[in-house]
Amino acid sequence: MKLLSEEYKDKFKNDIPGLSKELDGSPVIYLDNAATTLKPRAMVDAMNEYYLGVSTNIHRGKHYAIEEVSNRYEHARYKVAELIGCSGNEVVFLRNTTEAINLVANGIELEPSDDVIVFSDAHHSNMLPWFSRANIHFVQFMENGSIDWDHYRKLLQLQPKVVAINYCSNVTGVYIPLKAAIDLAKHYGAMVVVDAAQAVPHRRVNVSELDIDFMAFSAHKMLGPTGMGVLFGKKEYLEQLKPGNLGGGMVDWVELGSYRLRKIPHRFEAGTPHIAGAYGLSAAIDYLNQIGFDELQQDDTEMGEYMLAKAMERDYLKPVNPDPNLDRGGVISLSFPGTDNLDDFARILSDSYGIMCRTGHLCAQPYIDEMSKGQVLRASAYFYTSRDNIDSFFNSVDEIASVLLAA
Ligand SMILES: Cc1ncc(COP(=O)(O)O)c(C=O)c1O
Repeated sequence: MKLLSEEYKDKFKNDIPGLSKELDGSPVIYLDNAATTLKPRAMVDAMNEYYLGVSTNIHRGKHYAIEEVSNRYEHARYKVAELIGCSGNEVVFLRNTTEAINLVANGIELEPSDDVIVFSDAHHSNMLPWFSRANIHFVQFMENGSIDWDHYRKLLQLQPKVVAINYCSNVTGVYIPLKAAIDLAKHYGAMVVVDAAQAVPHRRVNVSELDIDFMAFSAHKMLGPTGMGVLFGKKEYLEQLKPGNLGGGMVDWVELGSYRLRKIPHRFEAGTPHIAGAYGLSAAIDYLNQIGFDELQQDDTEMGEYMLAKAMERDYLKPVNPDPNLDRGGVISLSFPGTDNLDDFARILSDSYGIMCRTGHLCAQPYIDEMSKGQVLRASAYFYTSRDNIDSFFNSVDEIASVLLAA
């Protein structure tokens, strides 16, 4: 396995133009990768191949260009299937993780009396879609911010219809032991829906080995384009899922007043899809495969350890869930006792140091409210992030804190 050395990382600048941008003559340090990643030129070129070619629609009509473009679109589907270990017809292309989870929550036609368990460190995307559709139960946290497994086991005795799991927290970068969580849910007969938006970019998530029923992730968090997301669903579950949208491209036959749905996955892709997005996602996966998912995972883990160690050297700030024994990736969220308005922090980091990171409740407000009682400042890495970038972030935070927190 080739480790992603600092020297090796420097070479990514040749492929990813965003890594060489400057702000007022100083290099930009991008540490908002959990929100969305930078994009390699190869991904943009692939999208342009569609837009600058015979940029026809797909699966409609029989001319040569349609067949060629349709093949490329379907090839992208098979590439995703290969990546996550399923069949091509179990991969649905949608806009993003949010749309994918909404499709499931709406399409499985829950009764208000059905019990659904939601992991409470979830992003709002894997929380709000379940609200008001069923009887929701939240798995509690431990004091350190980890999931309370005893509480999870207790809730499972309700025999919930669905367990909605957040594989990797966008706040802490902590990965839960997914196999254990799924095996427990299955033991009680629940359907398992996994939000893997923060996991698939960094490690191999094999849906067959893990026995996942539905899983969602977004292309833009793994070098791909915005507006392109994936829903995996087991064939037998997709066949029972109610489509979210009706219209062209998702029916085999229409008469006045009735229609026959196309086979899965096409029945979930009504209207013209993001065709260029499929080209781009395919190229993004090629790029990640070239680096290697073992290497990506190792780098993510090392980054997580490095960022946590740097945070722990400072006693004026508090990382959310700093347990060093957890499986974590390169994300750290910091709170600063004495202030909960971190907008000034982020603004100064950006405008005076060129460092782009995120503040606020990170679309995980119940978790942030519980763990930090206010906003946090989040830095998140990807494989192209260097240790120098992380050092610059913490040194800049030191300088800003010495002024803002003293005031
Ligand atoms: C864990 C998690 N789930 C879901 C989402 C939502 O992704 P999207 O905005 O692409 O739908 C995010 C985005 O930050 C996330 O981090």
